Amino acid sequence: MALSIKRPNGTEDVTPKNIHKWYTVEKTARETAETYGFKEIRIPTFENTELFQRSVGETTDVVQKEMYSVIAKETKFTLRPEGTAGTIRAMLQNGMLNEAMPQRAFYILSCFRHERPQAGRLREFHQFGLEMAGSEKPCADAEIISLAKDIIDRLGLKNIELKINSIGCPSCRAEYHKALKAYFSDKKDELCDTCKSRLEKNPMRILDCKSPICQDIAKDAPLIIDYLCDECSEHFEKLKEYLKVMNIEYTIDPKIVRGLDYYTKTVFEFVTTDIGAQGTVCGGGRYDGLIEQLGGQHTPALGFAMGLERLILTMESQGCEFIQPETCDIYIAPMDEKAVPKAISLAKALRDEGFWAEIDVVGRGLKAQMKYSDKIGAAYTMVLGDNELESGCAKLKNMKTGEQIEIALDDKFTDNFSNIAVSDMYGNVLKDMQ
Ligand code: HAM
Repeated sequence: MALSIKRPNGTEDVTPKNIHKWYTVEKTARETAETYGFKEIRIPTFENTELFQRSVGETTDVVQKEMYSVIAKETKFTLRPEGTAGTIRAMLQNGMLNEAMPQRAFYILSCFRHERPQAGRLREFHQFGLEMAGSEKPCADAEIISLAKDIIDRLGLKNIELKINSIGCPSCRAEYHKALKAYFSDKKDELCDTCKSRLEKNPMRILDCKSPICQDIAKDAPLIIDYLCDECSEHFEKLKEYLKVMNIEYTIDPKIVRGLDYYTKTVFEFVTTDIGAQGTVCGGGRYDGLIEQLGGQHTPALGFAMGLERLILTMESQGCEFIQPETCDIYIAPMDEKAVPKAISLAKALRDEGFWAEIDVVGRGLKAQMKYSDKIGAAYTMVLGDNELESGCAKLKNMKTGEQIEIALDDKFTDNFSNIAVSDMYGNVLKDMQ
């Protein structure tokens, strides 16, 4: 019978065959963030819808078009479209912002956006992200960018371009909004309906509208970087100086405005051309007003998030190395039912010592068991039949060399197996060195 229920459009399964790719990215990101003093935070998959309306912003594509929301018992909830809003909400709710500053937290989580699926763009995707609250200094911006770059480098990724921009603060933005309104007003009739209403409420959002017509009109719009106040300019200059000290190459892209409303001053993206149109593998920036907007004290903050699917796609396309998946240490093949109890107890003793031990659990014949053992790449195989049960001794076969060695099936079995495995491993290492 054909499978009649398939996974929803824009979602993916990660099967055990590919999970090592995810472990590689998650482990690298996690360990790198820890060297910068970040600890993990876990937050709910859904939040009150208002949280995203107030942080991501009412006029953004994410809030206007892409959120998965439900009304449950008269309360409106939304599956998180990103991790910043929930993390800052959690920092506030758990009193983290009353503790020693800066507060640093990283997360690995799924996000949900109802976008048109394509390569690198999903409706459920995963982010590694982090947030730092309590520093207004440009060296914090440099540190965050350096952290993202370290993760990218440690994954072995090449040709990822860092693009930076400053989108100013509310004071420089007032002038800029005036300039944008003047520019778009002439072309108002050609804008999409959403952008027509954005023109009054938040003209900057027209700059990241996905409609090709709006994008074409926005091509020659005024640039925020020409409207920065002294403080924002100085902040940006300092950041550039620090990036230079850190030997981090960048280009200034005055067109980066980011699709979320909370950003102020620094914004940045790491972009590749190796995976098609959706090549932004990391995006982030400063959001000095968000914590206050959500009911906290004025606390400058910043962070970034990386799309795990996009990182993995890029690693695959560039032939980067993944942490190799573990393989089976030993396959124990009982010849018949009589040998099963012994096989079970030996496997349990091995597993207690941390070995990956498998026995036949489906009742295959010996030949089929050997085939299976080969398929799973077991390092050793051991057959248990009447002779072995009677003599208390079995032959342990090294599947790489074909060598067989007698091993006693007594209470020293695990130690002996361990010694053999270790000495074979050293033998191989020595051989490789010769
Ligand atoms: P964002 O740019 O919306 O920023 O998303 C961050 C990253 O998530 C993107 O660069 C991309 O790699 C990945 N991503 C976004 N949408 C999709 C999608 N539909 N399918 C696959 N991957 C996707 C944020 O979410 C901010 N919260 C980042 C941040 C943290 N800013 C400050 N702190």
